Amino acid sequence: MNFNLTEEQLMIQQAARDFAQTELLPGVIERDEHSKFPTEQVKKMAELGFLGMMVDPKYGGAGLDSISYVLAMEEIAKVDASAAVIMSVNNSLVCAGLEKYGSEEQKMKYLVPLAKGDVIGAFCLSEPEAGSDATSQRTTAIDMGDHYLVNGTKNWITNGGTASTYLVIAQTDASKGHKGINVLIVEKGMPGFEVGPKEKKMGIRGSDTHTLLFNDVKVPKENRIGEDGFGFAFAMSTLNGGRIGIASQALGIAQGAYELALKYAQERVAFGKPIFNHQAIAFKLADMHVKTTAARLLIHKAATEKDNGEDIAHSGAMAKLYASEIALEVANEAVQIHGGNGYVSEYHVERMMRDAKITQIYEGTSEIQRIVISRGLVK
Ligand code: CAA
Ligand code: FAD
Repeated sequence: MNFNLTEEQLMIQQAARDFAQTELLPGVIERDEHSKFPTEQVKKMAELGFLGMMVDPKYGGAGLDSISYVLAMEEIAKVDASAAVIMSVNNSLVCAGLEKYGSEEQKMKYLVPLAKGDVIGAFCLSEPEAGSDATSQRTTAIDMGDHYLVNGTKNWITNGGTASTYLVIAQTDASKGHKGINVLIVEKGMPGFEVGPKEKKMGIRGSDTHTLLFNDVKVPKENRIGEDGFGFAFAMSTLNGGRIGIASQALGIAQGAYELALKYAQERVAFGKPIFNHQAIAFKLADMHVKTTAARLLIHKAATEKDNGEDIAHSGAMAKLYASEIALEVANEAVQIHGGNGYVSEYHVERMMRDAKITQIYEGTSEIQRIVISRGLVK
């Protein structure tokens, strides 16, 4: 692996850092407190090309590599994990899935506005009874000749209320199991498609998470991505890349919490010296630094393999598992190092600890990552 970043990658990292500090930091506590979607900030992310980072410029994207993407994701998540998940879903689930597997017509119609950030997208796999057990799809897409008739419910969908384009996974032929599942492009406003109430969440409160309801929604056949029965393979393949995005979100949270704790430890005096000079605190910071560095190495390895066109099921799962586990550990220690101040919103680390938890749950729980990794060991 080459650990030297190119000029271009360093430039993207700096642009994301500047954007996070100037545009995301000022209102992040208030957005968290009021569960406010960062509408203006997302518009600016679009202008910077952060919503279609890896998409070919001919489809409106920035044409960057995966390393640039994970660097930008880390910088954004360091300050605002809610903005980071909005960015991750749009980039590595919706745009990536459409670019890799969509038809030319689908790309021109749907990918271009998504990559430019004129609209945002949502990825709809999970259901009330099909989260980890994702092959147990209850949402149906019945083949009616020139269209599919979609019925069912999707749960916990990120960008659920704000998206315009939804990639919806549904069962067409139950007798074929996961090989009878399709993925359809559904537009907001299609008759019978309804956005349910917004979830009230522990963390990433600036992102909007909704239940989606489908009641006899007619989706034209040309909105199916790939061949009949390709939907589950589409979901799994796309999630492999998505997991690198969420790993970077987790890393950003951990890195942000670590940096705040390091600064605080040098400023806060107890028993006549900065608390950093109490070895118990310095050792915590040493461990936090080792963990974030190790997570970054796993993420950059997976991103490099992705750019090389290798199978990233295993490396993406390892990066996601490790980064999300250490995100919660590191954020928890950051709160501890801040003492009482760590428990109040002004110091940011309590939000980071709440935000970190979700990274162990979505895009495959830590237990599911261990299933993917362990199965890979004996392949
Ligand atoms: N990459 C490629 N293919 C994969 C795969 C992967 N990571 N994991 C499974 N598959 C393939 C298998 O090879 C198999 O294909 P074939 O039958 O053609 O060989 C098929 O999928 C079914 O796999 P299994 O037989 O292993 O099925 P299973 O039911 O035992 O397990 C699972 C499947 C790995 C647990 C899968 O259901 C899974 O990944 N669950 C987690 C779902 C998930 O990550 N949801 C995230 C929703 S999106 C989201 O959360 C967004 C957000 O928060 C922001
Ligand atoms: P379950 O599958 O019911 O799991 C419950 C527990 O059992 C977990 O600890 C799990 O690891 C464990 N478990 C289950 N099966 C096994 C097993 N075989 N072995 C060991 N342990 C097991 N989904 C989308 O499709 N799109 C989105 O945009 C999206 N965004 C989300 C945003 C938020 C804020 C949240 C909370 C969720 C989001 N999800 C999204 C859903 C998310 O992916 C699922 O919640 C997740 O995959 C887990 O599914 P579940 O909640 O049904 O838990």
